[in-house]
Amino acid sequence: MSSAPPTEALSTEALLATGQANTLDELQAVRTRYLGKSGLITRELGALGKLPAEERRARGAALNLLRAGVEAALRERGETLTRATLAARLAAEATDVSLPGLDLPVGGPHLISRILGDLEDIYARLGYTVVEGHEVEDDQHNFDALNIPWYHPARDLWDTFWLEDGRLLRTHTSPMQVRYMASHPPPLKIIVPGKVYRYEATDATHESMFHQLEGLVVGEHVSMADLKGTIAEMARGLFGPASRVRFQPSYYPFTEPGADFSVWWENPRGESRWLELGGCGMVHPNVFRAVDDLREERGLERVYEGKTGFAFGLGPERIAMLKYGIPDIRYFYANDLRVLEQFRGELE
Ligand code: FA5
Repeated sequence: MSSAPPTEALSTEALLATGQANTLDELQAVRTRYLGKSGLITRELGALGKLPAEERRARGAALNLLRAGVEAALRERGETLTRATLAARLAAEATDVSLPGLDLPVGGPHLISRILGDLEDIYARLGYTVVEGHEVEDDQHNFDALNIPWYHPARDLWDTFWLEDGRLLRTHTSPMQVRYMASHPPPLKIIVPGKVYRYEATDATHESMFHQLEGLVVGEHVSMADLKGTIAEMARGLFGPASRVRFQPSYYPFTEPGADFSVWWENPRGESRWLELGGCGMVHPNVFRAVDDLREERGLERVYEGKTGFAFGLGPERIAMLKYGIPDIRYFYANDLRVLEQFRGELE
């Protein structure tokens, strides 16, 4: 008689251990215990050779059956445990969509961007095209072609930031008049929004970086009356139908005649007064001549001499001050959120 343990007892024990394994690690330990290199079943299989031939056959068949049964049970338990582990992980990592969200700070367009947007809307309705120029300019476009030669005293009006290479930060958006006419024939109606720079002492109404919106209309028989009507229409669009605009003669080398225009400022601190918004005038014949010279240099036709046109340039910061009762221009770029958040635009 053999002293080998009965296969039934081994089977019951192995299947029980498999069923009781609660993790993949525990299951691996059961596999090693029974089916590993020196596992209990493996050892029994190895001992078959020592059995008498008449017992070997039946015991071999029973052990193979046992091994197949235990392997199947281990596989099945393994799949169950893998599924359970995954389910537990998914449950642990699930997003609770009912939790309140994080309160992220929301930005919005700066007040000046919104004023520029309002201006673009007003002028788009009047048929103007929006174009943009260069913040780094040369003195030909910023001064010379605008009838401001180097020796002209008017250059002092535009204190300039010069770059080391001889170029400059544009002191106004007017150079774009020259650039646009040099490459486009009349008739034309454009506005040019953008940043400009002046090397000057700042105060409540002056910054060293600010914005301008330039306007230029050129065609046949364009008149000062057209210019005044356009500015008044803009003021009504910005400040309402009762807004008051005043024109006063002024000097700009690139206009003849030239004027400044102001809007009545109801200052909340009781310092109401006319606030100058911009300069304007009829385009000076010397500007048309300079533009035609530039066109000729490029092989383009001289088409501007004899034309008429008006131009204007205004400061949107001044408009924002008027419209929202902001007493000091320096608030716009001091980046104090307490100021800016009061005028935060809604995000589209
Ligand atoms: C000019 O810059 C001319 N290029 C405007 C112009 C265009 C005249 C076309 C005629 C024809 P002026 O230097 O006045 O002009 O500036 C125009 C406007 O820019 C001013 O009325 C004011 O609203 C604004 N502005 C000027 N300097 C400052 C400053 N330092 N800070 C804030 N706004 C300013």
